[in-house]
Amino acid sequence: MSTYLAHFKVWRGDPDGGALQDYDVEVNDGEVVLDIIHRLQATQAQDLAVRWNCKAGKCGSCSAEINGRPRLLCMTRMSVFGREDVITVTPMRAFPVIRDLVTDVSFNYAKAREIPAFVPPEGLKPGEYRMTQDDVERSQEFRKCIECFLCQDTCHVVRDHEENKAAFAGPRFLMRIAELDMHPLDAAAEAGLDRKVSAQDEHGLGYCNITKCCTEVCPEHIKITDNALIPLKERVVDRKYDPLVWLGAKIRRR
Ligand code: SF4
Ligand code: F3S
Ligand code: FES
Repeated sequence: MSTYLAHFKVWRGDPDGGALQDYDVEVNDGEVVLDIIHRLQATQAQDLAVRWNCKAGKCGSCSAEINGRPRLLCMTRMSVFGREDVITVTPMRAFPVIRDLVTDVSFNYAKAREIPAFVPPEGLKPGEYRMTQDDVERSQEFRKCIECFLCQDTCHVVRDHEENKAAFAGPRFLMRIAELDMHPLDAAAEAGLDRKVSAQDEHGLGYCNITKCCTEVCPEHIKITDNALIPLKERVVDRKYDPLVWLGAKIRRR
C-alpha cells in the first residue's frame, strides 16, 4: 500500500466570514476526499464541520466544491488528482454557510413545497393505475435523484444571483415538474393546473438557457437538460403556439 501527504486547503468559517486553511494530510490507496476530511477531523481539526451520512453516493449529504467544482466528497477519488496537486475544498457557493463545509440548503426544500404533488386520476384506486413500460422508464431516470443539490448549486441563474432565487425553482425542481407533466396519469390539468404554464410563469423555466452545467455535475448522470428541461420548454412552446389553445384563450377572454 502506498501512502503520501497531500496538500489541502479547506474553507473554515461561519456566516460572519472565513478563509482557506492549509493542511498536509496522509492519503492511502483507494481513498476518497471524504476519507481525507475525516482524517483531518481525527488528527488536526476536530471541530471541522462537514455533513455526510452514507459514504456511498446515495444520501446526497456530502455536497461541497472541490477545486471549485460542485461534487460529492464521498464519490471523489483521491486518485483523480496528482500527488503534487493542491486540493481546495469549499462549501457550496449558492447556499448560505452554516459552518465550514456545511451549508443551509433549505432554499431547496422551500422550492419543493411550491410544486403541487401528483394528482391521482379520478375514479381509479391505488393498484388500478396502469402505465406503459415506456412511460415508466421515462420518469424512472428522474427518480434516481438523490437531492444532493449540486445541480442547484452550479446553475448560473442562482449561483451568483441571489436576486433570482425567488423566481427560479432550479434544475432539480423544474425536472420534477417535467416528470409530473409527462406522467400519463397525472390529472393536474383536469383539476385546473397547467403544469407547463406554471413552470414558465411561476417556477422560472424561462431563466434556463440550457447551459447544461446542471447535467455535467449530476452524480446520478441524469440528463436533466436533454431529457427534462428541453422537452418541457418544447411543450411550453407547443402549448403557446397551438392554434386551438390560442383560439380557446381568445374566446375565453371575450
Ligand atoms: Fe443531485 Fe442530480 Fe438530483 Fe440535481 S438532479 S439534486 S445533481 S442527483
Ligand atoms: Fe441552469 Fe441547467 Fe438550465 S445549469 S441554465 S438549469 S440547463
Ligand atoms: Fe452520502 Fe456522500 S455521504 S452521498
